Amino acid sequence: MSRLLVTGGAGFIGSNFVHHVVEHTDHHVTVLDKLTYAGNRASLAALPSSRVRFVEGDIADAGLVDGLVAAADGVVHYAAETHNDNSLNYPQPFLQSNVIGTFTLLEAVRKHGKRFHHVSTDEVYGDLELDDPDRFTESSPYNPSSPYSSTKAASDMLVRAWVRSYGVAATISNCSNNYGPYQHVEKFIPRQITNILWGIRPKLYGEGRNVRDWIHADDHSSAVLRILEHGRIGETYLIGADGEKDNKTVVELILTMMGQDADAYDNVTDRNGHDMRYAIDATKLSTDLGWRPRFRDFERGLAVTIDWYRDHEQWWAPAKDATEAFYAQLGQ
Ligand code: NAD
Ligand code: TYD
Repeated sequence: MSRLLVTGGAGFIGSNFVHHVVEHTDHHVTVLDKLTYAGNRASLAALPSSRVRFVEGDIADAGLVDGLVAAADGVVHYAAETHNDNSLNYPQPFLQSNVIGTFTLLEAVRKHGKRFHHVSTDEVYGDLELDDPDRFTESSPYNPSSPYSSTKAASDMLVRAWVRSYGVAATISNCSNNYGPYQHVEKFIPRQITNILWGIRPKLYGEGRNVRDWIHADDHSSAVLRILEHGRIGETYLIGADGEKDNKTVVELILTMMGQDADAYDNVTDRNGHDMRYAIDATKLSTDLGWRPRFRDFERGLAVTIDWYRDHEQWWAPAKDATEAFYAQLGQ
């Protein structure tokens, strides 16, 4: 496989994947991205045009998608509406991009007989209790909570049906919460880092007891590449790096690492239907495909991420005021 079509490659994890592919393989990449508020061409600016081509467009545009899929050897599908808080307020784009967009891509890979990898989230499994001894595995039942996670669950189901009904050569991965460079300032970790950099107090939803299982975006990329190259067709793989932390601990860590008092944050209105805990058991990925994360120490990954936001204010500053204005309206 040498020509990859990467959807959503101007977003957070998609752009990290394109950087990873250019650095670690010989593949040529075409990025298809609609450049919603979450897409940013600057995230790809450092990459050579001899390896990466950019096409601005919608994954639900069947004519455009047909031509791009025909010209590729494989498709890695990241494009989606991704923010839970937005999905609670404006669910329609989540239906359009996550469900209709995925359907459009599946029809094209079916027609042209191309390899497809679908990037999904652990949020399709719903949430766990804080004291639940089990973590999510590939056989956990689907139980999504929000418009975001329900549309991702729907897209996973479409992929499974296209494998079974039409023999499409697809794999699926469900990953836990990512952090790292190029993440939009609406998301938890970059929001708090950039708040501190601009003298705004970090904002913690509710009491901050909710647990997320953090993985560095570069480790997500290496896992997706491994599945693309060595995964078994029709299989689902969970991706995680044993990074469970509650939100209060993460905020306090960021504040301390940035030289502030650990309690210099505000508790704000909680999210409706807020999932309590996500946790991934990635045994299948490590046993079957030999994958291991590189960032096993969350504090080290966080330190590198804080440095990146400190050094790249020109990348995130244009989105910061509008993001905080949106949250202010919600009391968050
Ligand atoms: P993001 O919001 O940062 O980026 C999404 C990208 O998709 C943007 O560049 C946007 O312009 C593009 N896009 C949206 N709708 C499109 C459309 N209709 N046509 C073409 N492009 C479109 O998202 P992210 O955090 O990078 O997530 C990428 C994928 O990884 C998503 O499928 C998400 O469900 C999945 N995922 C994310 C996480 C996480 O922690 N962020 C964890 C697990 C899985
Ligand atoms: P987020 O980054 O939105 O990811 P997800 O909803 O996919 O888990 O949020 C991560 C956690 O942080 C989640 O429990 C909500 C919480 N959170 C805050 O406490 N404060 C914030 O400002 C944001 C954006 C999120």
